[in-house]
Amino acid sequence: MKRAVIRGTGRAVPSRLVTNADLSEMMDTTDGWIQERTGIKQRYWVQEGEILGASDLGLEASHKALEKAGWKPEDIDLIIFATLSPDIFFPGSGCLLQTKLGLSSIPALDIRQQCTGFLYSLVTADAYIRSGLAGKILVVGAEIHSTGLDKTTRGRDVAVLFGDGAGAVCVEGVETGTDMGVLASVLHADGSGAGALMTELPASRLPNRIPLDLKGEEVARYYPVMNGKSVFKTAVRKLPQVTREVLEKAALDIQDVDMIFPHQANLRINQAYQQYMKIDEGRIFNNIDRYGNTTAASIPIALDEALEQNIVGRNGETILFVAFGAGYTWGAVLYRF
Ligand code: UT7
Repeated sequence: MKRAVIRGTGRAVPSRLVTNADLSEMMDTTDGWIQERTGIKQRYWVQEGEILGASDLGLEASHKALEKAGWKPEDIDLIIFATLSPDIFFPGSGCLLQTKLGLSSIPALDIRQQCTGFLYSLVTADAYIRSGLAGKILVVGAEIHSTGLDKTTRGRDVAVLFGDGAGAVCVEGVETGTDMGVLASVLHADGSGAGALMTELPASRLPNRIPLDLKGEEVARYYPVMNGKSVFKTAVRKLPQVTREVLEKAALDIQDVDMIFPHQANLRINQAYQQYMKIDEGRIFNNIDRYGNTTAASIPIALDEALEQNIVGRNGETILFVAFGAGYTWGAVLYRF
C-alpha cells in the first residue's frame, strides 16, 4: 500500500511587518487588547499598492519546498491549492501557480475550505496517492488577507486577527511496509455555521454581482464578518472531538503523539484545547504571535518552521494536525515520519 509521505516544506510571507502598534494608528485598538484576546503580536501584510496574489506567495513557498524535496517542477503530477483569498474570482490559484512554475497540462485544483483548507488538501493528496492517481503532489496553502480587510474601527474585530502567508508541502506516494506517512484522517463540515464567518461579496447568487456604484455601508459587504464568540466556542468544542476521532481511527492515544500542530486562529483557543486534552505545553506548536491567522497557510508554515528547527522529523515520530474554521469545517490528520 502506498503512503503519503512529506518530502519537503517551504514558507513565505510578504515583506511588510505590521505590529499591533501599527494597527492602533489605523483603528481604535491597542496592543494590550490584541495580545490578551488573541496572543498575536505581529503579522505580515503586502505593501500598500503592491500587486501580490496568493499564487505569488504560494510560488515562493513552493520553490523552497521543491528544493528541500529534491524535486524539479516537472516531477509534480498534481497541484492542490488551498485558499479563501484566490488571486482572482476565477480561475483558481492552482492554475495560476501551475503556469508560474513553468508547467502545463498537469491537473491543478483549488480547495475552498478556509482554516481547514490545508487539511482537506492533505487528505485529498493522500486519497490520490492511495488510489494510484498521482505519485508526487504539491500541496499549497496561501492567503492574501490584508487587501480585503476593513482597516477602520468598524472592522477591528476581524482585521487584527489575519495575516498574509503561504506554506507548501511536497507529498509523495511511497510503497512501504511500515506505518509511516499519513496514518489516519477525519474531515467534517457543517454549512449551517456558514454565516458565522464569511465574506459575502462578490456573490454569484445576486442578480447583479458587480456593483455599479458603491456607497457607504455597501462597502462593508465586501469585508469578512464574524460572530467571534460563536466561532470561538464551536472551535473549542470541535477540536478535541475531531482529535479523539482521528486517534481512535489509528488506534492511538494522545500520549502517542509527539507534537500537535493546531491551526493558528487564536492562542486562547489552542490553550483551551491543550488544557482540555491534558497535553503539556511543550507538545503543542504555536507561532500565531508572529504571523496572526494565515488560514490555509498556518499549518504548513508551522510544520516548515518546526522541521527547520529540528523540533520534529525524526523517524517514527508521530504528529497531529488539527484545524477548525469557516464553513464551518474542521478536521485532523495523524502523520508519522
Ligand atoms: O480562523 C478560524 C476562525 N476564527 C476564530 O477562530 C476566531 C474566534 N474568535 C475569537 O478569537 C474571539 O472571539 C475574538 C478574538 C475575535 C474576540 O474576542 P472576545 O473576547 O470574544 O471579544 P468580544 O468580541 O466579546 O469583544 C469584547 C470587546 C467589545 O467591546 P464591548 O462591547 O465590550 O464594549 C468589542 O467591541 O472588545 C471590543 N473589540 C475590540 N477592542 C479593541 C473588538 N475588537 C477589538 C479590537 N480592539 N480589535
